[in-house]
Amino acid sequence: MKCKICNKQTKRIFSFGKMPIANGFLTNVTDHEYLYNLTINFCSFCLMVQIGDTVPATKMFNKNYHFISSTSETMIDHFKKQAKEILNIIKNKNNPLIIELGSNDGIMLKHIARKKYRHLGIEPAQNVASIAIKNGVNTTTEFFNLKTARKIAAEYGKADVICGSNVTCHIEDLNSVARGVYELLKNDGVWFFEDPYIYDIIHKTSFDQIYDEHIYYFSGLSVKNFGELHGFELVDMKPQQFHGGSMRYYLKKKNNNKITKRVKLLLTREIRNHLNKYSGYIQFSRNIKMICHDLKKLVIKLKRNGSSIAGYGATSKSTTLLKLVKISAIHIDYITDNTTTKIDKFTPYTHIPVKSRQYYLQHIPDYMLLLAWNHAKEILNKERQFRNKGGKFITFFPKVKII
Ligand code: TYD
Repeated sequence: MKCKICNKQTKRIFSFGKMPIANGFLTNVTDHEYLYNLTINFCSFCLMVQIGDTVPATKMFNKNYHFISSTSETMIDHFKKQAKEILNIIKNKNNPLIIELGSNDGIMLKHIARKKYRHLGIEPAQNVASIAIKNGVNTTTEFFNLKTARKIAAEYGKADVICGSNVTCHIEDLNSVARGVYELLKNDGVWFFEDPYIYDIIHKTSFDQIYDEHIYYFSGLSVKNFGELHGFELVDMKPQQFHGGSMRYYLKKKNNNKITKRVKLLLTREIRNHLNKYSGYIQFSRNIKMICHDLKKLVIKLKRNGSSIAGYGATSKSTTLLKLVKISAIHIDYITDNTTTKIDKFTPYTHIPVKSRQYYLQHIPDYMLLLAWNHAKEILNKERQFRNKGGKFITFFPKVKII
């Protein structure tokens, strides 16, 4: 498979086999499901980790997109802080413009909108874009690329800040995005984005982050190379305790910018961990197999002992985990989730019913598979009563554990 950034040959790290669309929750178990071959590959030239086959974007981000940002307190708080940082960046700017790619339900931009700053959210999924508009966020429903960037620049002028959270890694034609951002950004503007960080994925073996929507798994090294290809410099990196370990990358147009010490330290750490070589990813494949084996063994043992198991959080990432570990409705009675559009649907491929919190409170299981493990702190805190009454959570990264 050719690298989607530099067109050189890549090397396969791991093959997950056929997978359904991660957010393709079903109304009926008999609904047709689109399957594709999921692999993760490494490019030794530009150092980008990426999936092989991709799913057409319109199959993932459409009027029925199930990922709604404002479903967790952690996320609400995270984006409030991000908005605060932006307000700080623009504080001395004259009539600044802030553009967010993949603005979802306006979770971040609503804070900017409330302060009456010029802003624009670009969100291809119509259902979530409508929520943002209701929240007072100026939103356009389209995919971002060079063409969209030119159109926006003509209508609004150039931006002081262009940002995107958990969206940049979703866009296959990233070269077009970078060209678009270059045209749409002021010369002293900043482009920042945050996505799951490959260093954390490798360290925790959190392979469930690998699914159709996540086309790229960035490192500082790969973002630096990618940015340079398009006239940007990587000027800062800030680790985020989010989505199980993310990184926020800050890029500016090449202009002898000051590069923070943090960039140098983090790049050095990546090199020390061999993220610049194919060999740095071999142990990851072995660890994936080990976790799958241990989790399946535990689930089967608990079922044999007559225990009931439910899942907590019908996350996108659990689609990879459940399918790879071969956990289905035979093992898991239901998955509880607070996203209204997922409730009473079925998980892709594994067909586990998704149920409301009320349902869970009326059908307390013995064990809860913590699929939304990235929200562990919030969930364990919220579910103290379940645990006080003897309920247990099963976690699986970096090791399968009952807590
Ligand atoms: P998320 O962390 O965004 O993961 P992914 O990107 O893999 O979809 O999803 C968290 C899911 O968990 C989301 O569907 C909402 C659900 N959730 C609950 O149902 N209750 C909770 O208390 C929390 C924190 C999340």
